[in-house]
Amino acid sequence: MSMAIAAAKPGGADVLHKKEIVTAKPGKGEVLVRHSAIGVNFIDVYFRSGLYPWPVEKDLILGSEAAGTIVAMGEGVSEFNIGDKIAYTVPNGAYCQERIIEARHLVPLPEAIDVKVAAASMLKGLTAHYLLHRSFKVEKGQTVLFHAGAGGVGLIAGQWLAAKGVTAIGTAGGKEKCELAAKNGYAHMIDYMSEDFVERVKEITGGEGVDAVYDSVGKDTYPGSLNCLKTFGTLVNFGQSSGPALDFKLSDLAVGSYSVTRPILFHFTADREYLKQASSELFAMIEKGELKISVNQQFALEDAAKAHIALESRKTTGSTVLMP
Ligand SMILES: NC(=O)c1ccc[n+]([C@@H]2O[C@H](COP(=O)([O-])OP(=O)(O)OC[C@H]3O[C@@H](n4cnc5c(N)ncnc54)[C@H](OP(=O)(O)O)[C@@H]3O)[C@@H](O)[C@H]2O)c1
Repeated sequence: MSMAIAAAKPGGADVLHKKEIVTAKPGKGEVLVRHSAIGVNFIDVYFRSGLYPWPVEKDLILGSEAAGTIVAMGEGVSEFNIGDKIAYTVPNGAYCQERIIEARHLVPLPEAIDVKVAAASMLKGLTAHYLLHRSFKVEKGQTVLFHAGAGGVGLIAGQWLAAKGVTAIGTAGGKEKCELAAKNGYAHMIDYMSEDFVERVKEITGGEGVDAVYDSVGKDTYPGSLNCLKTFGTLVNFGQSSGPALDFKLSDLAVGSYSVTRPILFHFTADREYLKQASSELFAMIEKGELKISVNQQFALEDAAKAHIALESRKTTGSTVLMP
């Protein structure tokens, strides 16, 4: 048996409740993992609220990122052994003490990486990886705008952009968040609660605009994000923390022959070779100290609702983990 936190039905944080689950024997290609730390992400809020379609009728166990140890193995698993430390990111099912999962989703966790750091960076770090290497492949000397720079993905992306020689302009809500993001790679920070970020981007870039905007805020920011692009620039809309960009029209791109993409991490990580290569690059950067993972909030697993309330009300910075 394992304790899990499930959402009874789509709704607010109050739909989250404790539930005992039976962890049966792992089947072919599967392992049983005992979690050491579980990451909290905005995608958990999208599933819980019903913004994303539910894959089950009721009692959806949320959580898309965790680190732990393999405690039992099914047939046909050749890459791992009992006792191995691993990390993974898949949609849902991680808010629990133990779970069965297909081994193809796991990556080995280097000894030097703390389980909390792994649980705080697997989904967010791989997101930063594909955004910067696949969705819009940045090059040294470019300038980009990254919204919510002080958030979980934002703090990792800022450091990674700086390491690649890209000038990162960030936005965040409030002075303290801007100060934090500025210490994590952003060359310029804009407090979009009190400043017009389009005007500020124009000032910073001498009227030229940026090569790309990485926008996970959605409804409140995407019209302004388009106005920050230089001709032929790219809008990467990878989230909607303020709500989905429902009014977007393809003709909006004609102003500057812009490109737009709406990527999802799990399409990239479905390719096992990419998953292994990107996670080993991520872990290598963490081990070398080139990426610092800020685990700024920690809650007990049974207090997952408190973590959701904090994340949704913009009270968090960096990553949040749940301890089972
Ligand atoms: N597509 C993908 O593959 C993928 C993968 C991972 C994450 N994401 C997306 O990336 C974003 C960041 O994820 P995260 O887990 O690291 O979250 P996060 O950035 O730590 O938290 C979201 C941040 O969005 C900002 N925000 C702006 N308007 C908001 C509003 N109305 N309500 C709540 N927050 C608002 C807040 O920062 P400020 O107060 O500074 O504005 C908040 O802290 C999310 O939108 C998530 O869905 C997408």
